[in-house]
Amino acid sequence: MLNIAIINGPNLNLLGKREPAVYGSDTFDDFLTQLKKEFPQINFTYFQSNIEGELVDAIQKFGFNQDGIILNPAAYTHTSIAIGDAIAAIKTPVIEVHISNVHAREDFRKISHVSAKAVGSIVGLGLKGYALAAEWFVNNAK
Ligand code: DQA
Repeated sequence: MLNIAIINGPNLNLLGKREPAVYGSDTFDDFLTQLKKEFPQINFTYFQSNIEGELVDAIQKFGFNQDGIILNPAAYTHTSIAIGDAIAAIKTPVIEVHISNVHAREDFRKISHVSAKAVGSIVGLGLKGYALAAEWFVNNAK
């Protein structure tokens, strides 16, 4: 079994209700149920927080006991040096995911403190981005 943690940042608990034109109308819980069916070889752990320090704690915790982390830090992507530093500090590879195409939106969303520390980034492909990241770990996790 591959152990993969999915970490979602602020406001992603509102997926399904939050700006559906940008983020879609599926809830993350429903999506996660599907994802688990699609990847029976993965043991997923899911964590979401609206609090920056809790995201740092989760990265530290999962960063030494998981095979991969799929991370959507949401708005903290663009502001949090602490989250970037946490990714640099851990052993587990991180894939950055954004549901929307951050490069096609406001300029402040073009800055990421995460991208340079991540193995790679998937942006703008909706919730499918999480599945693509999971697939990468299936094929590449050590
Ligand atoms: C997001 C993009 C961020 O700019 C935004 O603050 C979010 C969600 C995305 O998944 O598209 O909350 O990370």
